[in-house]
Amino acid sequence: MIKDTIKLTLDGEEIEITKGATLLEAAQQAGVDIPVICYHEATSPNGLCRICVVDVDGGRVLQPACVAECQADSTVETRNERVERSRRTILEMLNASVNLDEAPEIQQMMADYAADDARFPDAHLREHTLIDDNPFYVRDYEQCVLCWRCVQVCAEDAQYTFALTLKNRGHETSVTTAFDISMTESPCVFCGQCIGVCPTGALKPKLEWGLEQGWSADEIWQMTRRERKRARENSDGE
Ligand code: SF4
Ligand code: FES
Repeated sequence: MIKDTIKLTLDGEEIEITKGATLLEAAQQAGVDIPVICYHEATSPNGLCRICVVDVDGGRVLQPACVAECQADSTVETRNERVERSRRTILEMLNASVNLDEAPEIQQMMADYAADDARFPDAHLREHTLIDDNPFYVRDYEQCVLCWRCVQVCAEDAQYTFALTLKNRGHETSVTTAFDISMTESPCVFCGQCIGVCPTGALKPKLEWGLEQGWSADEIWQMTRRERKRARENSDGE
């Protein structure tokens, strides 16, 4: 009979896990916390942010726990000096290029890993104008950590709408609609799933954003109602 479990040592404890499980799943089974940013249980793991790296057998390269499979008889350390240094550097680089003011989980990670928020004094934050192009939510890509979660839930992971994609490269990379059209012209159905998986304040419901601007609930209601009417008229006229 083929055995469908394997054994490995995780932080000094021997564990048994289903073959094909990821290191993150093994850690979760063992009650060990590994920080994640791009990973979300509702989206396919993509190994983008690298905050979840762990040390497997002291290998030359740390492994991203959300996508790397467990290997039989391996020894995994989820938080040693190498791992901490790597996570700290990732957080410091993120902090140097993205406004993390409304990302409490990442701020907590900064504290947990003693990340220096002045590590890269010459770096500059990505600059984007707030996009307010629909009655339902605003997009502030200065707060976007490019985790790809919103793009995935909008595509094969949930909604199959494919309203979102990426534009530009490197420091200028940003989430956008295809051909940069407004959200009301895009295939977006305003399901709100992208807002639900966003780990920062990059995507925000109009009501929450309006209240932050000091508007009353009635003013927001009047404004979004006008916008909905305009969007409907535009789509009827197409
Ligand atoms: S908008 Fe939010 S969910 Fe989308 S890539 Fe940026 S941080 Fe991630
Ligand atoms: S959480 Fe694993 S690479 Fe982002």
